[in-house]
Amino acid sequence: MRISVIGCGYLGAVHAACMAQLGHDVVGVDVDAEKVALLASGRAPFFEPGLPELLEETMATGRLRFTTDLAEAAGAQVHFVCVGTPQKRGENAADMRFVDAAVEGILPHLAPGDVLVGKSTVPVGTAERIAERLAEVQPGATLVWNPEFLREGFAVQDTLHPDRLVYGIPAGPDGAHAQAVLDEVYATPLADGTPQVVTDFATAQLVKVAANSFLATKISFINAMAELCETTGADVTQLADAIGHDARIGRRFLNAGLGFGGGCLPKDIRAFMARAGELGADQALSFLREVDSINMRRRVRMVDLAREVCDGSIVGRKVAVLGAAFKPNSDDVRDSPALSVAAQMALQGATVVVTDPEAVANAERAWPQLSFAATAEEAAAGADVVLLATEWQEYRDLDPHAFGEVVRGKRVVDGRNVLDPGKWRAAGWVYRALGRP
Ligand code: UGA
Repeated sequence: MRISVIGCGYLGAVHAACMAQLGHDVVGVDVDAEKVALLASGRAPFFEPGLPELLEETMATGRLRFTTDLAEAAGAQVHFVCVGTPQKRGENAADMRFVDAAVEGILPHLAPGDVLVGKSTVPVGTAERIAERLAEVQPGATLVWNPEFLREGFAVQDTLHPDRLVYGIPAGPDGAHAQAVLDEVYATPLADGTPQVVTDFATAQLVKVAANSFLATKISFINAMAELCETTGADVTQLADAIGHDARIGRRFLNAGLGFGGGCLPKDIRAFMARAGELGADQALSFLREVDSINMRRRVRMVDLAREVCDGSIVGRKVAVLGAAFKPNSDDVRDSPALSVAAQMALQGATVVVTDPEAVANAERAWPQLSFAATAEEAAAGADVVLLATEWQEYRDLDPHAFGEVVRGKRVVDGRNVLDPGKWRAAGWVYRALGRP
């Protein structure tokens, strides 16, 4: 099928390459000329495992190209809207400018029979509004809401082998046509047995924010337990293992630590609360305010722990922060807990050096006032305390003996509960962690 993908960020670039991999003829469109130039030369504009190889492979087939000219989307039968919906400055609500611009931009290029597919995470009611606009300008085209559930770091795998496909379609023959078209787009994952849920616009939009709210709640639940573990001397990692053995609870997403960040979970729960407020249903989501507060408290607790191990003061102390990305296997620093901790410590008088295997360039752009180093050893040279903030494999694998030679004070605060306390203590380190004795 001929497909256009509007917006080539973390979602769109991966989606475009994966659609080409599934055998479709794809044009990716973005307003950022620099990003388009990189993609057009077969290079990924951000770190995502597997994407460079996939770009190389699919560009070589001639089935994938990138452009800044939205007019080149004309002629495609299916148009995916993959632009971002960041948090509005100073408000909880989502900023819909990019979605609105993408929709207005593509409308003149749609032909009867085309299917416009919304993938961006949006406040419920957006699809209905876009469908009305579509009916005014190109009544022969149909809208489908098809939320995306990919995780950064696993984006290629999640797109080619999704957990489920959700379609929000209008009632009647237009909806049936749109469903048949999308079934053709996703013929390969459907043939692999991917579960499919076909529903209305409202449900499809809510599925996405409900899923992210559930994940955020799971993380904040275990972090609330970590707070109790800290006051009782219990160990939250053992607690998570024990409750996780109950299949109804499950162990995944019960890793206590610095909490969630990134471009999705934090802003999605806030936008969901804002939308519920507009709909007069704010009570239903008031618990998400607590989920958000628990999450943000972990960052403060991490700074307090660092202060505790530095005998009550971090002023003038040298602090190494391992990790800048919001999670490993990503260079994304949006709302990164690691950088939030690093910045708080710097503002409180510490000399902070941050390192990350992939995210230093992005981190430096976001927080130019912090200092950065290329490796863990460089960041930790002469440090009084080391904070593990993002659990990259290479930090998990650090040898506490060799690493102890580099620092001035052998103090480590494990913000992700991934180091072996016994091993680090045996090597002479003071080891502290969130939610562990
Ligand atoms: C999240 C969802 O997991 C995806 O399903 C969704 O499609 C995506 O948002 C989106 O809305 O686009 P992502 O932001 O890539 O994906 O990251 P996650 O893997 O969900 O991690 C989010 C944060 O939670 C990270 O900061 C991570 O360190 C933290 N986390 C995760 C924990 O603190 N504990 C855990 O047990 C798991």
